[in-house]
Amino acid sequence: MSASRRIDVGGAHPYPIHVGPGLLDDGAALAAHVRGRHVLLVSDGNVAPRYAARVVAALAAHSQAAAMVSVIAPGEASKSLQGFSELLRELADFGATRDACVLALGGGVVGDLAGFAAACWMRGIDVVQLPTTLLAMVDSSVGGKTAVDLPQGKNLVGAFHPPRAVFADTTTLRTLPDRELRAGLAETAKYGAIADAAFLAWLDANATALLGRDDDALAEAIGRSCAHKAAIVARDPFEHGDRALLNFGHTFAHAIEAEQGYAAGSGALNHGEAVAVGMVLAARLSALLGLSAPADADALAATLQRLGLSTAPPPGLDPAGLLARMRLDKKAAANGLRFILWEGPGRARVVAGVPESSVLQVLQ
Ligand code: GLY
Repeated sequence: MSASRRIDVGGAHPYPIHVGPGLLDDGAALAAHVRGRHVLLVSDGNVAPRYAARVVAALAAHSQAAAMVSVIAPGEASKSLQGFSELLRELADFGATRDACVLALGGGVVGDLAGFAAACWMRGIDVVQLPTTLLAMVDSSVGGKTAVDLPQGKNLVGAFHPPRAVFADTTTLRTLPDRELRAGLAETAKYGAIADAAFLAWLDANATALLGRDDDALAEAIGRSCAHKAAIVARDPFEHGDRALLNFGHTFAHAIEAEQGYAAGSGALNHGEAVAVGMVLAARLSALLGLSAPADADALAATLQRLGLSTAPPPGLDPAGLLARMRLDKKAAANGLRFILWEGPGRARVVAGVPESSVLQVLQ
């Protein structure tokens, strides 16, 4: 087994990200982040049966804190105000004090919901993120964004609440469904696309190993992705500037996700799959606007395809409907459509006032 690697997030609220096999069993490392007498472990009905008891047992060997496990229903529907108030009720019933710690064990839904409950309980208690999906390991567990959805849109209520630590146990990826693995790989490619041409080339060259769940290849991809995210969020924790680059492909992706319906069936794209399509559309838009070469967009699409991802929008989505969704995107600015556009491998920038006619041309 390979050794763990550590990436440090700097800034006003520094914290470590640990990546490696077996971290969920490292009770001493987990206990080092528990300050008080209460630990609420939040997980979902898919992840809890596999790992919750292991984490609680590992912690108990090194901490006197009482641990309670809260299991939410798997899926985006749990990321609601109702799910949030349920966690607050559990913290209240538990008698959780200001030094309590929430452990968020699962994917992005668990991390966002448990993180938001931790951000609000007694105006903010500790949260340690224990991501078990590749997407959560390389994106949502790092950077402190927490939120729940409203019927009007995703992530509309939330807070920036950095974790005390992140432990990404790579052995959890062995049982991750293939589609979720590929969705996470899309986000790793995003870091290469916006910040690191050499990493993008590395992902392309190592696609077979990554899809084959080679431990070392996955740990390398996670570590390099987290290093990029750590650098960006340390510079711009509240997304006033550079952090927006992390949304490369996301304006198109959010529109696709919204148009197909978040609760859509198994044929619909999941978030990472939609980001893969969105990145290629953003790259084609960039080429149309003269910011990059069309061949760059083709090469990005080829890399994503080698990572097992589809790069064409799902059939049947109406371009005008997608455009209307983009106008409503909370990242849209007052002066027209705002996109993260691409200047070729490793370089991206925020561009406001993108003509709708160009967006429509790319969507058609
Ligand atoms: N997922 C984008 C961000 O954390 O800013």
